[in-house]
Formats: sequence, structure tokens, C-alpha cells
Amino acid sequence: MDSDTTDRDTTAGFSSTPATSTLQLFDHPYNTTILNERAVEIPVVMAWLYRGDPLGDVLEVGNVLQHYGDVLDVPTRRIVDRYETGPHVENLDVFDITGRYDTIITISTVEHVGWDPPEPRTPGRSVEAIEHLASLLTPTGRMLVTVPTGWNQPLDDWLADRPAAAAVTFRRDGDGWVLTDDLTFLPYGATTRWAESVFIGEFRS
Ligand SMILES: C[S@@+](CC[C@H](N)C(=O)[O-])C[C@H]1O[C@@H](n2cnc3c(N)ncnc32)[C@H](O)[C@@H]1O
Repeated sequence: MDSDTTDRDTTAGFSSTPATSTLQLFDHPYNTTILNERAVEIPVVMAWLYRGDPLGDVLEVGNVLQHYGDVLDVPTRRIVDRYETGPHVENLDVFDITGRYDTIITISTVEHVGWDPPEPRTPGRSVEAIEHLASLLTPTGRMLVTVPTGWNQPLDDWLADRPAAAAVTFRRDGDGWVLTDDLTFLPYGATTRWAESVFIGEFRS
């Protein structure tokens, strides 16, 4: 195991994040995960969820984990997604979510808020979505946000200023993904149809 990688995992607050050498990429037919950023987002999110702290009341924004329920032990949670329909999915805008949550996860979703049709493009709206969700956390609550980089430049710019309590990025490396030395925001779709790098950050209340 690379000692630099291990140290960085811990200091970044992601002690439960699998080091690159032990990261088991997630391979599932829904969304052909092995080809895209879900390959690394899903194992990091699952390791973070099951790091040992009680999860309490859980909210997921963007209906992602449900698609992998056949192979993942996904916690009981409220699921909100503005457009996608599915069992137990509430079709609500992120800004209409109320309540208090101990754990919030949002996977590859906030970059679409106020950025992609049918919503009008509104720079800064994705940042406001993260801030709104953070405001729903209990005093000891934690939120994990994943963002494929190079999709929403104003959001990348904000994330690069390190508003998260802890953050890492991964970039493509051949058929795999590696933790980067510093936060890295590569252009979306440069060598494949998907992300070249992905941001994963923990936000607190
Ligand atoms: C990349 S998809 C994630 C879900 C998809 N099933 C998947 O696994 O990739 C992003 C999701 O963000 C949702 N979304 C976009 N704008 C939203 C908003 N303002 N509030 C809540 N959800 C939103 C979309 O409906 C979409 O399902």
C-alpha cells in the first residue's frame, strides 16, 4: 500500500475511504458502472456510510443506490429525486426538502441542479443546493456529496476553494481510478463519455 495515499486518506477525514490499492471498483449492469464514475463513487459512499458511526435518519437526494439494492446493503432512508420515478422515491425539488437528518448522501446529482434542462441554467444554484442540504443536518450530522468534475464549472470553482470539511478527488488511470495528490478537476468526457475525475466531499452542519 502506498504510504502517501494512506496518510492522505486519514488527514482528509476519509479514514474509511479505501486506499487506491484496495479500492474494489463497483461493477454493475445498471448504468454500466465499471465504465464510469460510479465505479469509484459507490464503494467510497458505502465505506463512508458503514464507517462505524450510527447513521440515524438518512436522506438520499438523487435516486442512485436503489438501483444496486440487489448487491448492496443499503440503509433505510428517505429518497428524493425531482424527476426520476421509482419505488419509494419522492419527486420533489431539492429546495423543497425539509426535515432534519443525521446522514445525507447525494451522488452525482447536485451538479444538475439549476444547470441542466428542464431547469434554466443558473450558476450558483448547485452550491445553494449543497448549502440547503447542509442546513438540514442535525448538529452532529454529516453529508457526503459526490460530483463528477468538469460538468458544472461554477460548482467546481466553489469546491476547489475547499468548503467541505474533508474532500478527495479521484481521476481515471487506465481502466481504474486513483486518488489524486491534490483536488483535481478534469474536463468531463475528455477520453470517454463520462467523468475524468470525481470529487467526493464530506460536509457538516
Ligand atoms: C445522475 S442522475 C442520478 C440518478 C440516476 N438514477 C443514476 O443512478 O445515475 C441525477 C438526478 O438528479 C435529479 N435532479 C435534477 N435536478 C434536481 C433537483 N432540482 N432536485 C432534485 N433532484 C434533481 C434528476 O432527476 C436525476 O435523477
